[in-house]
Amino acid sequence: MNILIIGMGYVGTTTGVVFAEWGHRVTGLDIDPAKVEALQKGKLYFYEPGLEELLRKHVKEQNIRFTTDTRGAIQSNDLFFICVGTPSRSDGKADLSYIKQAASDIGKYMNGYKIIVTKSTVPVTTTEKVAKWIRLSCSHPHPFDVASNPEFLREGSALYDSLNPDRVVIGSSSERASQVLSKLYQSVKCPVVFTTTRTAEMIKYASNSFLATKISYMNEVAKLCDQLGVNVKDVARGMGLDPRIGPHFLHAGIGYGGSCFPKDVKALIQTGNEYGQPLTILQKVADVNDNQPQYMVECIRERLTSLKGKKLVVLGIAFKPDTDDLRETRSFQVIHQLLLGGAEVNVHDPVAVIPKTYANQGVTQCQDVESAAKGADGIVICTDWPQYKDLNWQAIQQEMRSSNLFDGRNMLDGAKMREIGFYYHGIGYR
Ligand code: UDX
Repeated sequence: MNILIIGMGYVGTTTGVVFAEWGHRVTGLDIDPAKVEALQKGKLYFYEPGLEELLRKHVKEQNIRFTTDTRGAIQSNDLFFICVGTPSRSDGKADLSYIKQAASDIGKYMNGYKIIVTKSTVPVTTTEKVAKWIRLSCSHPHPFDVASNPEFLREGSALYDSLNPDRVVIGSSSERASQVLSKLYQSVKCPVVFTTTRTAEMIKYASNSFLATKISYMNEVAKLCDQLGVNVKDVARGMGLDPRIGPHFLHAGIGYGGSCFPKDVKALIQTGNEYGQPLTILQKVADVNDNQPQYMVECIRERLTSLKGKKLVVLGIAFKPDTDDLRETRSFQVIHQLLLGGAEVNVHDPVAVIPKTYANQGVTQCQDVESAAKGADGIVICTDWPQYKDLNWQAIQQEMRSSNLFDGRNMLDGAKMREIGFYYHGIGYR
């Protein structure tokens, strides 16, 4: 198939490379010439394990190409995936202007039958709006069908998730579009859900919001565990063995970040309000998440009496391991609160780079944890990069002025850290 991917972000790039891997001819369209130039050279402009190698292979074999030529790209392809961003507006609603632009471009330039698929996470009814926007911008009407085919890939394992999905959701009222999409996914071994566009869109939002709910629920339980001297990690393990609950996303910490959960939860809350069916549980999920970094900072303040003049080291700034993505990262909330309290902050991340705005406020990014910890009053883990487990914690402890370890991701063995000589405080876990 000749497939056009519109929007070369995480989702678009990964999806394009995977379709190329499945033997299709893929064009990636983006308005940013710098992104297109980099991708055409086989270079990723973001960090995603394994993806660059596969990108390079398919660029070399000419299975995938990248362009800024909207008209040419639309006219030479038949199956389109809209993967542009849907950022949160200030009122929590998803900003659909990029989706609308893509739909209008398709309408304006289309030259025959096309199938247009929304892959970006879009509010329920958006795919119907895409059809309307295409129709409105058509000067010479051509037949087309729309479909919703949400992505469920996680950053950091985007390639694996796309090559091995646990389900494929195809929402369309068109038999023809459903058949084409079903053929596209014929090589993957997982259940396929055929449904309407609205239901497909809802599946995506309800899934992400449910996972966010699991996290916030455990974070509330963890805070109670702190009061009761109960170990939340054991609680999560005991709960997760119940197959009705399952072991995933029960990991307490400083909360969820990233480009999806915070935005999607807010957008679904907005949809609920818009349709007169407020999602009260989800509002609490968002509130708990917003307060989680503050909770960690309060634990630090309690231990150090005051933050003023204290030197703290933040380990991990990416919103989660195996990515350099800083969108909605919890670490920024922690850093912000520490700075407000008058602390000096050193940060370390194996991949992500602290933005200039923080550097201007005196935050220093260090290349290694040992030098960051020299003379420090405490370390705060904000991202559970696995390599932090293997640090020489003994040597680090000796470098510090006072050896306080605050584990915002409950990733270390508390007992072992205490043995080394640390004061150790996780979230609902000591
Ligand atoms: C998520 C969904 O998992 C994916 O299916 C969807 O398509 C896009 O959004 P992603 O944003 O890449 O993927 O990250 P994910 O691995 O889900 O983690 C999100 C956040 O939740 C991270 O900040 C992570 O640290 C946090 N998290 C996750 C927890 O705090 N506890 C957990 O138990 C799991």
